Amino acid sequence: MFDAEAFVNEKVEEIKGAIDGKAIIACSGGVDSTVAAALVSRAIGDRLLTIYVNNGFMRKGETEAVEAMFKRVGMNYRLIDASDEFFDAMKGVIDPEKKRKVIGERFIRVFERVAREYGAKYLVQGTIAPDWIESGDGVRDTIKSHHNVGGLPKDMDLILVEPLRDLYKDEVRKVARYLGVEVAERQPFPGPALAVRVIGEVNRESVAIVREACAIVEEEMEKAAAAGKMTLPWQYFAVLLPCQTVGVQGDVRAYGRTIAVRAVESVDGMSASYSKVPHEVLERISVRITNEMKSDVNRVVYDITNKPPATIEYE
Ligand code: XMP
Repeated sequence: MFDAEAFVNEKVEEIKGAIDGKAIIACSGGVDSTVAAALVSRAIGDRLLTIYVNNGFMRKGETEAVEAMFKRVGMNYRLIDASDEFFDAMKGVIDPEKKRKVIGERFIRVFERVAREYGAKYLVQGTIAPDWIESGDGVRDTIKSHHNVGGLPKDMDLILVEPLRDLYKDEVRKVARYLGVEVAERQPFPGPALAVRVIGEVNRESVAIVREACAIVEEEMEKAAAAGKMTLPWQYFAVLLPCQTVGVQGDVRAYGRTIAVRAVESVDGMSASYSKVPHEVLERISVRITNEMKSDVNRVVYDITNKPPATIEYE
């Protein structure tokens, strides 16, 4: 049985010994990076600077919500708007692995700049076991390069500290509850953010479409769960597919884009089954997306694939 208290005590001592100066951590407000930040700040206090990098691919309202959380917790933090440089870097990038590598590298370049200004030589990351397992380690095949592992450039000049490396998601949540981290029950969200939910080129327009669709999926599933119509899936979101199909709006032909809705049940993200979301909830999502986003989207499909053979995210 995993013992969160023993884990925290052991890691805090280990981190005290490992970090002899200042460190930075990039925190997206997700469970892994927030737990890593809480753990390391227990060990080194204000020698840790928490940064939130807005890459332009975050969900609706996310930046504001994360900043409010940092303030409530009293973190030593800085917000960095790097969206222009991320969107520039994504021009013409279609291949999923290339996308992840470009994003990973951009993140590191931002971290290096901030670390230089702050005088930090350590970079803390909330990497967990599935991140490096799926990224391949010379033994296993690369399923996808998680941004914080396979996406790291070789010439990075920061020393990595990864206190959660050996944990799985369910164990990270136990540590989060033990530390009183308020995001313990949040659904997972990938580091490359909405960029891996746009199949095809990531630009301001495509991200805006998937951001709106994701917000509708989250809102409707959370509302239905609160009303007792379903239990909230382990993860639930929208993906913008790279195809257009024919439709009809009023009595006029439409040729619009397609949104896939994905919802899965899982324990640790290593395997998953698709969620049996009630049809009335799916219908409500479809009606809202095609009404509220009618100039862009005219078709919504529900993904009924388990992992394996699919992965949870599409890229
Ligand atoms: P897949 O898509 O590989 O995802 O089945 C398993 C879980 O990991 C999340 N995920 C990521 N998390 N960095 C992260 O921190 C990443 O690059 C990344 N890619 C996928 C995914 O959302 C799911 O919960």
